[in-house]
Amino acid sequence: MIKAVRGTRDLLPPETALWNHVDRVAREVFRVYNFQEIRTPIFESTELFARGVGEETDIVAKEMFTWEDRGRAESDKGQSLTLRPENTAGVVRAYIEHKLWQRGLNKLYYIGPQFRRERPQKGRYRQFFQIGAEVIGPKEAGSESPARDAEILELLATLLDRLGIKNWKLELNSVGSSADRARYNEVLRTALDSVKAKMCADCQRRAETNPLRVLDCKVPEDQPIIESLPRVYDSLGEDSKQHFEAVKNILQSVGVPFEINHRLVRGLDYYTRTAFEFTHGALGAQNAILGGGRYDGLSESLGGPAAPGIGFAIGEDRLVLALQESAAAVQEKPDVYIAPLGAGMNAEAARLARELRRKDVSAELGDESFRLKKSFEAATKAGAKFILIVGENEVKADAFALKNLESGEQVSVPRGELVEKIQPE
Ligand code: HAM
Repeated sequence: MIKAVRGTRDLLPPETALWNHVDRVAREVFRVYNFQEIRTPIFESTELFARGVGEETDIVAKEMFTWEDRGRAESDKGQSLTLRPENTAGVVRAYIEHKLWQRGLNKLYYIGPQFRRERPQKGRYRQFFQIGAEVIGPKEAGSESPARDAEILELLATLLDRLGIKNWKLELNSVGSSADRARYNEVLRTALDSVKAKMCADCQRRAETNPLRVLDCKVPEDQPIIESLPRVYDSLGEDSKQHFEAVKNILQSVGVPFEINHRLVRGLDYYTRTAFEFTHGALGAQNAILGGGRYDGLSESLGGPAAPGIGFAIGEDRLVLALQESAAAVQEKPDVYIAPLGAGMNAEAARLARELRRKDVSAELGDESFRLKKSFEAATKAGAKFILIVGENEVKADAFALKNLESGEQVSVPRGELVEKIQPE
């Protein structure tokens, strides 16, 4: 038997109804906040991620699905390509390629698959879906304003609330400008010098290559040491501090609760200043439903003009996991099951189905091989609200037996009144 590849999975009904529900609510929230959709390719040049996400990150160092193009055209040969592990780099590439700064502030969103070669476990897959957004533009268009950060965070609170996600927690931090970050890295490196010998092997390595990453360590014995390290806030310049205070102020004023997490530094290299994650208790070890932050220097590091930006990506698989209990509530069921009774009734039933479906009634169409009892069973199994009987007498009278499968009530309804009876509004 050929199975789905490890770390990938099929999404089957009825769960797909929940996914569609999440997509719909997200699109609706994006509309209300005046975001527009962008669709970028699923694979890009490897260089984009190496430069955008950062060579030193776990994603680029060990998790990318990369191959060498063997295309026929000379220009394709030997090009290194990668399935996108995330979509911020792709959006910023598109921003530069299409000179989107000419439009001022861009508020863009995307929904789609991403790929990382991670060790699969609950909530962690090799193909997973993200719902994300990026706000990017020239500084003059307001892209650097703390109002943008707060708007993004408030949008996220609205989306999670609308979906009925309870007990989410917003963890917030500022990792400072790239200069602040560099300064903090040095402060950490010095502080780690005297303690790293007592830490895990990973931390000893990180203390040399990327001291910031030490803050992500989960090894219990290392925690007291990490807690005693200098905090990033104390390395922030005055501008970064003010920016962070302004974001917090707006959040307080709009009533979005948050907690400061001094250790939140995020796993991608492009972040500057605001960094955040929303977590959810029901998800176990992979408890981050979403993450994001500011990336004021990313456009420049990809060869574009200065273009401050901020964004997030929700792990849709994790969001759906957190919502699973309510799966039954959003199952899509047909309004009516149309049961042709006996040979010769298929054509009449098909005509009725066409009329009803054109009026937006969702209909499941049976066939002549089903007798009455079997039709009732099929209608109940499909979860239909009504069953509509199409027999010779009904066709002659142009009025059909319509039975409400919940209440048991059965009435004869003239053709012209069916829609109204099935979908009373
Ligand atoms: P990220 O933190 O790498 O950020 O991913 C965002 C979210 O995607 C995570 O919080 C998680 O819910 C989900 N996720 C990541 N990896 C997996 C996986 N293997 N399986 C299932 N879900 C996963 C980014 O991707 C940034 N591009 C976010 C961003 C946008 N920052 C600024 N703009």
